[in-house]
Amino acid sequence: MIIKVKTDKKTKVLFNFNFKNIEKISKKYNKLILVVDHNVYKYHSSIFSEIEHVIVVEGGENTKTLIESQEIIDKLLKLGADKNSLIIGIGGGVITDLVGFVASIYKRGIPFGFIPTTVLCAVDAAIGGKNGVNQGLIKNCIGTINQPDLILYDYQFFKSLPEVEFSNGFAEVIKYGCICDTELFDYLESYDLQYFIKSPVALQMVVQKCLSIKAKIIQKDPNDNTIRKTLNFGHTIGHAIEKDLNLKHGFAVSIGMIYASQLSILKGEFTRDELERVSELLQKYELPITENVKSSSVLSLITNDKKKNGGSIDFILLKSIGESEIVTLTFDEIKQDFKKIFNGANSLSFA
Ligand code: GLY
Repeated sequence: MIIKVKTDKKTKVLFNFNFKNIEKISKKYNKLILVVDHNVYKYHSSIFSEIEHVIVVEGGENTKTLIESQEIIDKLLKLGADKNSLIIGIGGGVITDLVGFVASIYKRGIPFGFIPTTVLCAVDAAIGGKNGVNQGLIKNCIGTINQPDLILYDYQFFKSLPEVEFSNGFAEVIKYGCICDTELFDYLESYDLQYFIKSPVALQMVVQKCLSIKAKIIQKDPNDNTIRKTLNFGHTIGHAIEKDLNLKHGFAVSIGMIYASQLSILKGEFTRDELERVSELLQKYELPITENVKSSSVLSLITNDKKKNGGSIDFILLKSIGESEIVTLTFDEIKQDFKKIFNGANSLSFA
């Protein structure tokens, strides 16, 4: 199946792509350059043996730096990459963020695409054009929004994924259910993580569903001014604790969604029963709902969040399961709310 996502650019998305056809897909370009995560390269080395230009990068959050970008740029220069070349990033969100960033700034932008190899990347990072690198503790501090030309899904890459990577990705899947799709939420409630690990067809359907939800959102708001912000449900606190506690992104977002759901009860109509459902669903997908987080350090990290706006920040809250809203909260308000949620315990817990 092929779909086209139209923003300022048309992104061609191919589901059930077979890597064997990579040369065919890139024949209109003068050069194909693959940038591959080293773990993916290690597990699937034989399939890359026929490709002339492959750059292997370390992977992992620490790779998302300006220095790594410059190293890739040096390699692109040596290979003679130009505006008619195609770069394809193969890996998880770190690789797609990094490759999207390099391709956006190299010679003021050259064509690029992705083959996501993790669930997290397949349902979120690969689509939407956000790319970039970290600066110190600040995630995605430097970057652009530039849509990829291609997204190619070849599920053979998922076969080497450890179980924990499925959980990691399902945090984002559950997020879509929470913010805008009750049906997806209900559907996820009737299964569990092991079901999707054992059923590639069901997994592919869920990936396609998430991609179509995100495509609709970014077509309306590619530049993250309005509705796209709802995709950050669970991410404000998630980003704050991810680096601090060295958590996987989905795990940090899972805890962030619990916090944001609690805040949704404090601020509006979200109910404790709904919070219970969110919590149970996250646990069904083997995600954490609590962590020993210091409220003071979370607060200080939140104030550095790139989405902050003077003394306030846009929080994504739930009106109900499947319906979200953007609420601007001042840091003073957040401090007071934190006190209530943390309940003097100095750590984030859900009881
Ligand atoms: N991952 C959130 C976004 O793409 O906007």
